[in-house]
Amino acid sequence: MVFPMSKVRKAVIPAAGLGTRFLPATKTVPKEMLPIIDRPILMYIVEEAVRAGIEDIVLVAGRGKHAIEDFFDVSYELEDKLARDGKDAWLESLRKIRDAANIISIRQMRPLGLGHAIGCAKPIIGNEPFAVLLGDEIMIADKDKPTVTGQLARSFEQSGMSTVAVMEVPASETHKYGIVEGETTAMPDGGTRIRVGNVIEKPTAGQSSSRWALPGRYVFDASIFGHIASTKPGKNGEIQLTDAMVAVAKEKGLLAQTFTSRRFDAGDKLGYLQANIELALEHPELGTALRQYLQTLGKTL
Ligand code: G1P
Repeated sequence: MVFPMSKVRKAVIPAAGLGTRFLPATKTVPKEMLPIIDRPILMYIVEEAVRAGIEDIVLVAGRGKHAIEDFFDVSYELEDKLARDGKDAWLESLRKIRDAANIISIRQMRPLGLGHAIGCAKPIIGNEPFAVLLGDEIMIADKDKPTVTGQLARSFEQSGMSTVAVMEVPASETHKYGIVEGETTAMPDGGTRIRVGNVIEKPTAGQSSSRWALPGRYVFDASIFGHIASTKPGKNGEIQLTDAMVAVAKEKGLLAQTFTSRRFDAGDKLGYLQANIELALEHPELGTALRQYLQTLGKTL
């Protein structure tokens, strides 16, 4: 089958972090496998990608790779038992996970940074454009609306330029994110688009001229691999994706744009709890009971 090269069909999900913010749980469970209600964080990320039309997903794992691989594999004993017990709905939900996309798992041999992790996916991505989705953030778009990755893919397909998602954060939070600087224009939907001039990794308040933060959703063309390969260790001695993005901005141009979607910072304990509560309130089996419980709790707080 021949695909037009501008269509974004592949994605990279780096999952090699140590998850130190969730220790001790993450001593044995990769943070991407921590559940939001009953589904691991990784499922939400994979679903966002699949809804955006992604077919092949490259998981760049480090420690804990087996738990992640096994999740997308057949679990013969479990499925056989479910079939014998007539638990068809559960069986179906496990099959859906497997069939969602082609999951290709590779290992980042050394923890050299996010840029390096993305670079590890080059042999699988080849010359195609691709999305990157970081597992710390969960983006839940309305059912009938494009996901954040879908919004970036559309920008790439229309403009031919690599496009990344940004959101405005308070000055007190710039030190948590890569921050984009550049010329802004208004988009027809009320959002903002930026022609990126510079990207600074985790500046302290006042070290950047803007507060446009990268929440971990990107669409790049394959030229970024060459820039990653020539990127020297930067902040914290790591090969930073943001430094390679500066090179893309200079060579071919890079767009950053705001997005329409709910977002949860699941890499943070409070954000993780908020995601669980908000999504459980919408859950058909849990919503009513949880709302009643929270209301009772509210009276005593
Ligand atoms: C990484 C990136 C940073 C980005 C952030 C989003 O940092 O280096 O540019 O804003 O993800 O979550 P990390 O949070 O992995 O340190």
